[in-house]
Amino acid sequence: MTANAASPNHLQLTRDGQLRHFLTLDGLGRDLLTDILDTADSFIEVGERSIKKVPLLRGRTVVNLFFESSTRTRSTFELAAKRLSADVLNLDINTSATSKGESLSDTLLNLEAMASDMFVVRHAQSGAPHFIAESVTPGVAIINAGDGRHAHPTQAMLDMLTIRQHKGAFEGLKVAIVGDILHSRVARSQIRALNELGAEQIRVIAPGTLLPSDVESLGCTVEYDMARGMKDLDVVIMLRLQKERMEGALLPSEREFYRLYGLSQDKLALAHPECIVMHPGPINRGVEIESAVADGPQSVILNQVTNGIAIRMAVMSMAMGGQVADRQQKLTELTERGLA
Ligand code: NCD
Repeated sequence: MTANAASPNHLQLTRDGQLRHFLTLDGLGRDLLTDILDTADSFIEVGERSIKKVPLLRGRTVVNLFFESSTRTRSTFELAAKRLSADVLNLDINTSATSKGESLSDTLLNLEAMASDMFVVRHAQSGAPHFIAESVTPGVAIINAGDGRHAHPTQAMLDMLTIRQHKGAFEGLKVAIVGDILHSRVARSQIRALNELGAEQIRVIAPGTLLPSDVESLGCTVEYDMARGMKDLDVVIMLRLQKERMEGALLPSEREFYRLYGLSQDKLALAHPECIVMHPGPINRGVEIESAVADGPQSVILNQVTNGIAIRMAVMSMAMGGQVADRQQKLTELTERGLA
C-alpha cells in the first residue's frame, strides 16, 4: 500500500513500508502483520532462556506513558523493553505534573528533552497516540498501548500470535468475539487483524445495546443468540464488560448478561471440541466467563499474557529499526543535495 497524507500510514510507515510508529492496524497489510508475528516468534525463545536479554535497544530510553490504569499491558511493555536492553521509565501520570495542570504537550516536550527514544502511550481519548506521533520530534517512536474505544493493536497482535500457535494458520478459521463490543478497542483491532490475516468467519455475539451501530462495516457478522453463535467455532474471544465506559443502562443486570452471554461449560460444548478460549483480561469470573472455563483445558488466557511480551518486543524493535532507517534516508538525501 502506498502511504499518503490522508492515511494513518503516512505517519506510521517509512517510505519503504517499515514501521516507524505503531498506532493502528488500519492499512497494514498481511505481509507486515505476518512479519510482526514471525519476529515475535523469534523472541519467544529469548523469554525461555535463563538470561532473557538481547541488545537490540541497548542505550535507548523507552517511556511508558499510561494515562489510564493497566496491569498486564504496562508490565509486559516494561518487560519487553527490558528484555531488549532498553532503559525504561514508567511515568505514573496520577502523581506526575499533569495532575498539577501541565498540558500533554508540555509533558511531552520535557520527556523529549530527556532524550527519550520511544513513548508507549495508553490514553482514554481515542486518537491521543496519533496526536502525539504528529507532534513528536522526528526519531521518537510512538506505540499505541490502547486509546479510548479506537484501537489496541499490540493486544490484537498477541491474540493473533496465540491463535496461530494453537491453530497453525488463519485460513478456514471461525472466530467469535463475545460481549461488550461497543466499548472495546480490543475487538476493533482484532476484527481488523483477523480480516487481514484471512480468517474465514468473524462473528460478534452480543446484545444490541453492546454493539456499535456500524459493526458489520468493520468486517464481521452479528449474532444475538449465543447458542447459534457458538456453533462450529475454532476460537472464542470473551470481552470484559467495560462498565467504566458505559453511560446509562445498557444491561438488564450482570446476572442476566451472564445467563445469555457468559461462557459456561455448557455453551462452550456447542463449539468445535478443540475450540480455544481467549480473553484479553482482566477477567470477571461469573460475569462473562465461568471459572471452570477460564481455568479449563481449552483456555489459552495465560498464553496470551506470555505472548504479549514477545509481540511487544517485536513491535518495539521494528519501530526503532524504522526510525533508524528514516534517519539514514534523510542523511543520504541531504548528502546528495550537498547539504551534509
Ligand atoms: C483491555 C484494555 O485495556 O483495553 N485489557 C488489556 O489491555 N489487557 C481490555 C479491558 O480492559 O477489558
